[in-house]
Amino acid sequence: MDNNQAYLQELNKWADETKKTLEIANLPENQGWIQAISDWKTNVNRYLTEEQEIMTEDLQVLHDEGQRILNSMVNHYQMDSVPYGKHHLPPLPYAYNALEPYISEEIMRLHHDIHHKAYVDGLNNAEKALYLNLKDKNIIRHWLREQAFNGSGHNLHTIFWLNMTPKSTKYPIKEIKHQLDKDIGSWEKFRELFTNVASSVEGVGWAVLLWNPRSGKLGVQSFEKHQLFQLADSIPLLVLDMWEHAYYLQYKTDKASYIKNWWNVVNWEDVNNRFLEAKNVKWKLY
Ligand SMILES: [Fe+2]
Repeated sequence: MDNNQAYLQELNKWADETKKTLEIANLPENQGWIQAISDWKTNVNRYLTEEQEIMTEDLQVLHDEGQRILNSMVNHYQMDSVPYGKHHLPPLPYAYNALEPYISEEIMRLHHDIHHKAYVDGLNNAEKALYLNLKDKNIIRHWLREQAFNGSGHNLHTIFWLNMTPKSTKYPIKEIKHQLDKDIGSWEKFRELFTNVASSVEGVGWAVLLWNPRSGKLGVQSFEKHQLFQLADSIPLLVLDMWEHAYYLQYKTDKASYIKNWWNVVNWEDVNNRFLEAKNVKWKLY
């Protein structure tokens, strides 16, 4: 066996081991990589099984393709933030028809592939305009509205897909069960309350079970429309009250001076502490 054949054997072994690791990990984003490695392994095997002599240039192409697949996996797991304008649609963590008969395959395809995708595209456009290329500050409200609408849509749908499974236990379990019992009274009481919240939503919105770190309690809330200039699933670090009651007695209509002066009183120590606490919340990046 010459050196090239020995190297091909090594590549083949790497493909088998990596594929096995990905299959065991069973993460939704693995599907693309498993397919890419399988296709790549087929090419490697072509040279091995036919005992066809491989030219050094062809070996280099095979090597580079393997390296590209490896890099894409490493980059994915080493990424610790999503660059502005680079969000992507998370894959569904189950098949489109997995929630039938409760939710049809047709709904899941439209909801995930069309509606959620539109939020991702809209959020990327808004972020590019806001953070990378704000040409006209007079239309910042437009882009903030777009970020709130599409960003909240993206974040809430990302939670929503993961909140569902074809293998539901049907009842709350573990710590959340105990917290529901402690705060709301019982699973039955919570189910009735949450059902009433969901029924109260007029046309567009969400029913939400939430954790309120300020009170140390669970709560329910509807997010009507989901976007009214708030970005769901994000944690405020620094806030400025712009209701008139916060400045009118002193500044009258001079909002600009109120804002300018306010920068003199920001407690960055506190903002930093909130930032450190908030960073402990780790979600998968999309
Ligand atoms: Fe939706």
